[in-house]
Order: sequence, then structure tokens, then C-alpha cells
Amino acid sequence: MKTKIAVAKGDGIGPEIMDAVLGIFKASDVALDYEFVEMGKSYFDAGHSTGMTALAKETIENLGILFKGPMETPKGKGVKSINVTARKVWNTYANQRDFRTLNGVDTVFSRAGIQINLTIVRENIEDTYGGIEHMLTNDVAVGRRLISRTGSAQVIKYAFEMAKRKGNTKIACGHKANIMKLTDGIFLDTFYEIAKDYPQIYATDIIVDDLCMKLVSKPETFEVVVLPNLQGDIVSDLCAGLVGGLGFAPSANIGDFISIFEAVHGTAPDIAGRNIANPTALLLSGVAMLRFMGLTQNAATIENALLYTLEQGVHTGDFGDKTIPASNTKQFADAIIANLGQTPVKGVATSKANFVKSTLAVEKPTQNIIRETEPGIAEEIMGADIFVETMLQPKALAELAQSKLNEKFKLTMISNRGTQTWPTGSVFTELTNQSRLRYEKNDGQELSAKDIFDLASRVSEVINVCSIEFLKKFGGKLGYSLAQGQ
Ligand code: NAI
Repeated sequence: MKTKIAVAKGDGIGPEIMDAVLGIFKASDVALDYEFVEMGKSYFDAGHSTGMTALAKETIENLGILFKGPMETPKGKGVKSINVTARKVWNTYANQRDFRTLNGVDTVFSRAGIQINLTIVRENIEDTYGGIEHMLTNDVAVGRRLISRTGSAQVIKYAFEMAKRKGNTKIACGHKANIMKLTDGIFLDTFYEIAKDYPQIYATDIIVDDLCMKLVSKPETFEVVVLPNLQGDIVSDLCAGLVGGLGFAPSANIGDFISIFEAVHGTAPDIAGRNIANPTALLLSGVAMLRFMGLTQNAATIENALLYTLEQGVHTGDFGDKTIPASNTKQFADAIIANLGQTPVKGVATSKANFVKSTLAVEKPTQNIIRETEPGIAEEIMGADIFVETMLQPKALAELAQSKLNEKFKLTMISNRGTQTWPTGSVFTELTNQSRLRYEKNDGQELSAKDIFDLASRVSEVINVCSIEFLKKFGGKLGYSLAQGQ
């Protein structure tokens, strides 16, 4: 029985490397059937605003697995990246990238005899990738960075499950919770909460800047690192550099219903159509897909043939021993096919599944799933931050901002770019034309949402209001940060 998956060849070098990979799958008798779907640049150009046909969407949603080549997002047409949209719309919440030393791929670490074998699991939906951005004034833009407990739990749980399956002994959470106390704080708290269910795996956390330093100085000490989206994006490209560059970086986007397997690199327009691209990253993504689907024997055979081929010094033009002539894409794939059944000297691939295969069996939802951790948790409105456009000095702004108070509120703080400027501040703090007024409730008062909007409405009579944010407590805990210097 062959399983059917959706395949999109992609743009640029996509069709060349996908043909090479599918050729290797065929030679290895992989029990898959392919439904080729219409996605990518030409479908944007043909007027499909999402970059795919309705049939492609339906096919992928029915089959649950998409194996895709890189795709180009047309520039300057206001369309969103098809790659990011696909990951978000289908809720592929975990982006897994495996990085390992490949013999025959020359790096500073391979020359020093240091073996790298680490996995980055990146949250794939939230964070700044929501793309929720606004101009508050002509000079000041704001981006909303949404991090949820439920979203964090999905990716972190996945990272622990994967680590357990792979037999990893330790996992680190990369974050910046020392600065972003609430957003990254949720991610970090969730990490340690979930860690309690995996006592056999040593769980630790590391601030992302320190992580970067340690990854380039001691990469062999890491096994699995889980991170929020943007930090994970940067750190995973850093890791690609450690093992030889983008040509060797596979990626799996895992969701409960749909999973997408693709290379990290793009369409390489500079070399497209010349049959010289390196298919390794897409092949490794395909190998990860086979493992995910339980085709672990095929995965191991193909991976071993790839490793053996690299050990033989066979290479495409973008890497390898320059004294050995480069193979083109087709010759490189043919060399791997000829080596099916061979075993590399170092780093033999295992036939173990390192993904959570059970997710394949999940039934299609009939409506959107809405997640919440603690329904009905007590909430209390404590006040509001009102963001305003002004060129007034802090003292004058405070006087104006206080002119619209009623008995419910007091003005407690003004800040500019997060630095407190009133009631105390420094004359050396340079200001933009956008400030934040923090109003908090007076003792004994109870606030409603209407009180906040009424206050904002009164303030707007004298100051140009650009945005409002509620200050709340959840379950008695403060749900907002203090200003620098407050
Ligand atoms: P790129 O990854 O396509 O190319 C960067 C450099 O790496 C180029 O010099 C290219 O020749 C080389 N390169 C990339 N893959 C290679 C391979 N397999 N073999 C040999 N050399 C390789 O990144 P770039 O130029 O920033 O983006 C080009 C296009 O790709 C853009 O339209 C971008 O939106 C899209 N893109 C798509 C992605 C996806 O589908 N997941 C990911 C990244 C970019």
C-alpha cells in the first residue's frame, strides 16, 4: 500500500532538486505516491493571491503532508510569502531543523574533528511573525509580538517528545526573558512546566545571546534547543553555517494535521535552470519526512547512501574538495542512487523514527480549534496605557494629561520608547514624538472597559491619542511590564 503525499516542485532550482530527490526515492523503492500541486510564483502571477490554486489547497488539506521545493514570493505586490502563509494557516507549530557534521563537507569544525549533531526546534506561528505592525506617528512604528501559553506548549511539548524518541539526554530553552519578561516569560515558564513530564531529559535554559556565543564556540555540547519564532529563525541559520551552509539545512514544519517538509534555502535564482544546484538539503528534508511517516528503513538507506557519497568526495559546485571536479545536480543524485546500500565510515544513520508519527492519524477538524489554559481565570482592570503623539516636554505633558482625570484614575508614569520621563527622568533621555501615559486606578476604585474608553476619549480632547492598551491582573498577577527606570 503506497501512501499519497502532496508535492510542489517550487520555483527557481525547485524543479531540478525535487526531480533529483524523487529519483532517489524511486530508486530506493519508497512506498509513496505523489499528487503534484500547483503552488508558487506562476500561481501568484496568474492571480491566485495565496500563491496556490483552490485544488492545491484542498489536496494538501486532504493528504496532510506537503513536500515542497522553494518558492518565490513576488516582490512589491503586497502579497505575503507563500512559505510563511502555508506554515501559519495550517498551524505547523514546530519547525524542526537537524544539523550534523557531514563528512566531505569542509567546515572549521570538521577540520578540528568536532562532531556536531544538534536539533533546533523553532516555534513557527507566533512572535513577530504575526506581522501585526502599525505606525503610531509618522516617526514611530510598533509591532505586536504575540506569544501564547497554548502555542508555546504545543511546540515545547513537541520538542520534548522528539528528544525522547531520538534518545537525547538534554534540551535547552533559548529565550530573552530577562528583557521580554511577559512574552518570553510565558515561553520559559511553559518550558519548565512541560519539563516536569520528562524527568529523564535534562532541561535547562539559556539567554539567546549567550546561546549564540556557545553555539559557535562549543556546538558539540548542544543536543536539542527550543526557541520562540524570531530567535529560532536566526539561531537555526547560524547552525546551518556551522555544518556547511544552507545547502545542508533541512526543515520540517510539524502540525497536528498537516506537516510540510522543505529545504531551508530559497529558489537560488542566480543558478536556476543550470542543473548545478545542490539537492542535499531537500533530500535531508525528504529523509526527515520518511522518518515522520514511519518509512524509517528507506530513510536510513538513503541517508547512509548520501553520507557515503559525501565521504567519497562527490560534491556539487557550492561545496567540497575543489581538486575533485564538481558533479552537476543529476550526477550527484545518480552517485547517491549508485551508493544505495552502502554504509558510511562515520555517522551511520539509524532507522529510528525521530518524529511523532502518531500525529498523522489525527482526524480532520470540523471547526476551528480554540485553545485556552485556564478558563474563567479572574481578571481585574488596573488602568491603561494611552499612547499619544506629542512634542511637549514631559512636565507639560503630565499637566495636560492630568487635566482630564476623574476620581477613578491617577497618572502614574510617562515613558518614551519604554524609558520613564515623568515623574522622574533624565534630561539626557532623547525623545521621539510619541509618548505613553500610564493611568492607574485610585485605591478603592473598580474599573470597567468603559471607564478606560471614557478616559481615552477625554484625553483625546487635549492630546493626539494613537493607541490604548489595558493594564490587567490575571489570577492576581500583574499582566503588564514596568517602564525602564520605573
Ligand atoms: P537563496 O537561498 O535562494 O540563495 C542564497 C544563495 O545560496 C545564492 O547564492 C544561491 O545560489 C545559494 N543557494 C541556495 N540554495 C542552493 C542550493 N541548493 N545549491 C547551491 N546553491 C544554493 O536565498 P535568496 O536569494 O535570499 O532568495 C531567493 C528567493 O527564494 C526569494 O524569492 C525568496 O523569497 C525565496 N525563498 C524561499 C524560501 C522557501 O521557499 N522556503 C526560503 C528562502 C527564500
